[in-house]
Amino acid sequence: MDKHKQLSAIREYVKALFINERTGHDLYHLQRVTHTAKLIACEEDANLFLSEAIAWLHDTTDHKLVESEEQAKITLRKFLDSILLSESEIEEILEAITTISFSKEEEPSTLEGKIVQDADRLDAMGAIGIARAFTYGGAKKRFMYHEEEKDHTIQHFYDKLLKLKSTMHTASARTIAEERHLFMQQFLDQFYKEWN
Ligand code: ADP
Ligand code: NI
Repeated sequence: MDKHKQLSAIREYVKALFINERTGHDLYHLQRVTHTAKLIACEEDANLFLSEAIAWLHDTTDHKLVESEEQAKITLRKFLDSILLSESEIEEILEAITTISFSKEEEPSTLEGKIVQDADRLDAMGAIGIARAFTYGGAKKRFMYHEEEKDHTIQHFYDKLLKLKSTMHTASARTIAEERHLFMQQFLDQFYKEWN
């Protein structure tokens, strides 16, 4: 099967899985991450096919979305095998998506995995990152901000979002991260100005 057909099969596979997903990992998140990953992959001379495949698939075995991460990996392996990816391609994809998640604090070993980790983290920054954080906080019924308690969404900026810029692996991602980081700082400045 040629690479284009494999990628469209992967896209269809992911679409079917994520059609009802609204917790911040919806299809548009996957589209944005894939788009960003392809841009970075071009600039970094990485393997475009693997970067795109990893980007589409990066959330399909996430413990927040599936009951068993192990079972999800077995299902994914079977699928990738059925569309005739090579054993080494399947290994690289599985290794990357197992390590990408921020909460695990791990690093993919390949350039393509690192690129998708960068793209995924970029999507948690900037205007969209801010929107995703408040969407998540709302879904968890958190305060947007609280003067005494720490369990509010503004706190998430200090716990995670403002740290992302310094975790980028590639120079291309660092450039995009600069702009998004600055925008989040401006957002916080304005937020406190209005709050006070
Ligand atoms: P990943 O699956 O990429 O490791 P998460 O599932 O932790 O990332 O986050 C998905 C989105 O939800 C991100 O935009 C992230 O900033 C947001 N998010 C995660 N935890 C919180 C939180 N405690 N408060 C607000 N937003 C959060
Ligand atoms: Ni993601």
